[in-house]
Amino acid sequence: MTTVALKDVTKVFQDGTVAVDRINLDVNGGEFMVLLGPSGCGKSTVLRMVAGLEDPTAGAVLLDGELANDLSPRDRKVAMVFQDFALYPHMTVGDNIAFPLRLAKVDPLPRGERVADVASALGIGDVLGRKPSQLSGGQRQRVAMGRAIVRRPGLFLMDEPLSNLDSGLRAELRAEISGLTRELGVTTIYVTHDQAEALTMADRVAIMRKGVLQDVGTPTQVYGRPATLYVAAFLGSPRMNLLEASVYVHLDRYVALNLGDQSLYLPWDDIRSRVVAHYHGERIVVGMRAEALTPVAPDTPGHVLQGRIRYLEHHGHESLAFLDIGATAIVVDEMSGPAEGAGGGQRGLRRFGQVMQRFTGRSGDAEEASTEQAQGGNNRNSVLNDPGRHHRRPAELAVRLAPYPAVSSGHPLAVSVRMDALHFFDERGDRIDVGWR
Ligand SMILES: Nc1ncnc2c1ncn2[C@@H]1O[C@H](COP(=O)(O)OP(=O)(O)O)[C@@H](O)[C@H]1O
Ligand SMILES: [Mg+2]
Repeated sequence: MTTVALKDVTKVFQDGTVAVDRINLDVNGGEFMVLLGPSGCGKSTVLRMVAGLEDPTAGAVLLDGELANDLSPRDRKVAMVFQDFALYPHMTVGDNIAFPLRLAKVDPLPRGERVADVASALGIGDVLGRKPSQLSGGQRQRVAMGRAIVRRPGLFLMDEPLSNLDSGLRAELRAEISGLTRELGVTTIYVTHDQAEALTMADRVAIMRKGVLQDVGTPTQVYGRPATLYVAAFLGSPRMNLLEASVYVHLDRYVALNLGDQSLYLPWDDIRSRVVAHYHGERIVVGMRAEALTPVAPDTPGHVLQGRIRYLEHHGHESLAFLDIGATAIVVDEMSGPAEGAGGGQRGLRRFGQVMQRFTGRSGDAEEASTEQAQGGNNRNSVLNDPGRHHRRPAELAVRLAPYPAVSSGHPLAVSVRMDALHFFDERGDRIDVGWR
């Protein structure tokens, strides 16, 4: 049960790429930590530095509290499984799993027992005599895991091990992997770009963007109280609705969140209104997940938004309605990752920076600012008069409905808003902490 601590760990590659930027992260003994982020954000680089396959440019990697920067990979007692794992094709499954034990000169008898134990834990006990080519993809991935854990490492590192498998198998193996590592009590760092995978498997999730750690917490914490707009948009399905809102304070009465055609009102006696009131006359981002929205009759009093259904999406167990409510959305969906093809994640990130800048007229990121200036877009007015771009567009508020509802696009729909479930973000995309929830 190795503990891992990263102290201000930075990795700059020879070509100047800052892959990891001053990361601080503690992983407890026996913990299942998931590193989550889009393609290119530096997840593999972090993992490779923990494994000793890559040297940090600055900072310290501590294993069990001891400085490990200069330890060779084999002295770190770590096991690693990659997306593109390679089994020895000419060896049987049993010999593949036993291989690390043979290298470690474990005697044949205990070796056989340990292989049998691991194989049965992984549900591949009956295929030990086969060659890898005679296995399914899922079985092969299990063999790769077996080979990694048979040496009983103190630390198990997995880099997108399920990405090449089909979705059914992925779901099955998710449960198996987290079950197995917990049973063995082995500390695990698991890398993925898949937010659903992260939320289902992790004890804690660490979310990265462009080499920078954005947020760390239990799935409930990062989902329920995301530290940044980026994290809010990255976690959950459907994505959190992120609306541009102008703040107007009506002293002793309420704080109005003007969403365009409609407003929401935070009562003055709601403690959050005191915090949000600091943004009087400014624009902020209001986030509301689909679970904060309930369809109601159109004349229902209270915190209600009126809309018209733009389109519907049927998911079997539920249908999603996307409502036009006359508001402006801050769109961060380009951040997703590999699904968009190589480099898509990076491009999306830069665009996200521009979103924030367009939205605010400034940017905390020099590189993004210069990109934007080069395009002549650094103008507050052009932001306001520039609707319909990818990153700022009419809001389509995602609302959950029962499966296959008797409504269609164009249909009016009113939704009641759970005001206590709203999220607030400032112009930089940082959470406005209202001391609530
Ligand atoms: N050996 C390398 N030399 C230069 N740049 C690299 C090298 N390895 C990775 N990178 C860059 O570092 C960044 C982070 O890469 P990586 O850690 O592989 O991201 P992830 O695993 O999150 O997809 C990317 O921009 C990638 O192109
Ligand atoms: Mg990677």
